[in-house]
Amino acid sequence: MSSSEIRYTINKATENEIRDHLHKCANDFNPPLYSYVDIDAYGSKIFVKSTRFEAWDNLELVGLGAVYYNDPEAKVAFFTHLDILKQYQGGRVAYTLISKVIRFGLERNFIRIETEIYPHNNAMQGLVSRVQGIFGVKAVFENISHPDGQGLKKIKVIFSMQNTNAG
Ligand SMILES: CC(C)(COP(=O)(O)OP(=O)(O)OC[C@H]1O[C@@H](n2cnc3c(N)ncnc32)[C@H](O)[C@@H]1OP(=O)(O)O)[C@@H](O)C(=O)NCCC(=O)NCCS
Repeated sequence: MSSSEIRYTINKATENEIRDHLHKCANDFNPPLYSYVDIDAYGSKIFVKSTRFEAWDNLELVGLGAVYYNDPEAKVAFFTHLDILKQYQGGRVAYTLISKVIRFGLERNFIRIETEIYPHNNAMQGLVSRVQGIFGVKAVFENISHPDGQGLKKIKVIFSMQNTNAG
């Protein structure tokens, strides 16, 4: 499958397609997705509350990004989920989905898109660095410490969309 044969949509997947997809990719997360969320409930929440950016190989959902663009006054969005099925990783599908996430926000005058990643997620950190050039978007990193002071828990990534050249 070449990446040019992947089809991209917004909010077309059904609730069941999203849940099935999350079950398929759960083990690719570290820690696994099911270790910290109820996958079916999480799929339903994503379906109801987020804007979904979807990548398809024929009828199979192979990539999913989900964003809450739910603060229209502050114009700050939260990027809650991104994954690509293992056999489709490395083909720039995630890069394409993030480009669409950023363009969608820019078109609605959002000023920031925030997300949180684990410090050990090298693929996600590489992806964020790679994405920085899109439309002139800058990524700012903030450390989130464990509440008990036991070191770094997560990294907050803020895509700052001011002074961009999205046209
Ligand atoms: C993170 C993830 C979404 C990346 O998806 P992908 O489709 O493989 O990424 P792309 O092919 O679009 O890669 C785009 C850029 O990301 C970076 N990247 C991707 N995989 C990487 C890796 N394993 N290590 C370092 N950088 C990586 C590279 O800079 C790459 O650019 P390049 O192609 O010019 O080298 C995918 O690995 C995944 O689904 N992981 C499991 C779920 C997960 O961890 N989600 C994030 C939770 S916060």
